[in-house]
Amino acid sequence: MGSSTTRAPQAPPHLEPTERDGRPAVAVHLADQIVTVAARCPHRGAPLAEGTVVAGAFLECPWHGATFDLRTGKRLRGPACPDLDIVDRTPTGAAPAPD
Ligand code: FES
Repeated sequence: MGSSTTRAPQAPPHLEPTERDGRPAVAVHLADQIVTVAARCPHRGAPLAEGTVVAGAFLECPWHGATFDLRTGKRLRGPACPDLDIVDRTPTGAAPAPD
């Protein structure tokens, strides 16, 4: 029998409704950090907890597809609107996944 190496499967990023300073927010659990953002999309107010994390670092709105960079809050595509409000960022100590 040969040796083999196995990696524990990584859980996909997930979104968790929460609050920050009494305001609704969404905690986005990434590989190496938890990014907390405003609960509503700055375009038309979609609930971002129902959005999708794309490529481990981008949040796509569930209504019209605006996509925000979770490192900066900048809108990268989708309908014109203000950038996403990032209200907190907490490193988890996990190493980021290789590109
Ligand atoms: S409400 Fe988010 S893109 Fe329109």
